[in-house]
Amino acid sequence: MKITYYGHSCFGIHTAGVHLLLDPFITYNELAQGRVRADEVPADYILLSHAHQDHMADLVSIAQRTGATVVGSWEVHVWCEKQGLKTHPMNLGGNWQFPFGRVRCVEAVHSSSFPDGTYGGNPMGYVVESEGKAFYYAGDTALSLNMQLIPRRHKLDFAFLPIGDNFTMDVQDAVTCADFIQCADVIGMHYDTFGFIRVDHDRSRQVFAQAGKQLTLMEIGQTLEK
Ligand code: NI
Ligand code: MN
Repeated sequence: MKITYYGHSCFGIHTAGVHLLLDPFITYNELAQGRVRADEVPADYILLSHAHQDHMADLVSIAQRTGATVVGSWEVHVWCEKQGLKTHPMNLGGNWQFPFGRVRCVEAVHSSSFPDGTYGGNPMGYVVESEGKAFYYAGDTALSLNMQLIPRRHKLDFAFLPIGDNFTMDVQDAVTCADFIQCADVIGMHYDTFGFIRVDHDRSRQVFAQAGKQLTLMEIGQTLEK
């Protein structure tokens, strides 16, 4: 599995011969400018955690260019269908076997509406099983006791967790989340993009290290192998 960071909460994952794209927000991310371009990002499936602008600003243009299938809540599906996009609707607790592997929708404690005000349904996280590995993409969420249910069904190899505070969990809660999901290998997201969510990188990594866990903060444009 190859993971490429496009900034904020946006990752590309190349697995089982397909390109997954998570929460595309590139063009309006100042930190991503000059490093990645939305019109060059590959996508076969776009998994959307929720409909806020900082997770979907490049959704329509990338889906139109690539013909990718958008996976999201029922309400995300209805909105995307109106834009003429290919979709696969899901909702909390549901699983689906895609050509690249199995996707499960899990709870995210947040809100979800499109920039035009349309209700976006439940915000979600995803557990993806592909190539014999499993990862959790938390989306935007607060820490929740229900995260403890995830390892009852999935043995996670790594997890994408928000660490930026203000709109989501902070670093300390992300460490507790890593305990709940029984996964010590965490890739941070949803930090530094705006003034509200700047974090101290060294301190954040230390908080994880002190708990016996690893926090990876990827460079925008960087690719790593899992
Ligand atoms: Ni959000
Ligand atoms: Mn967000």
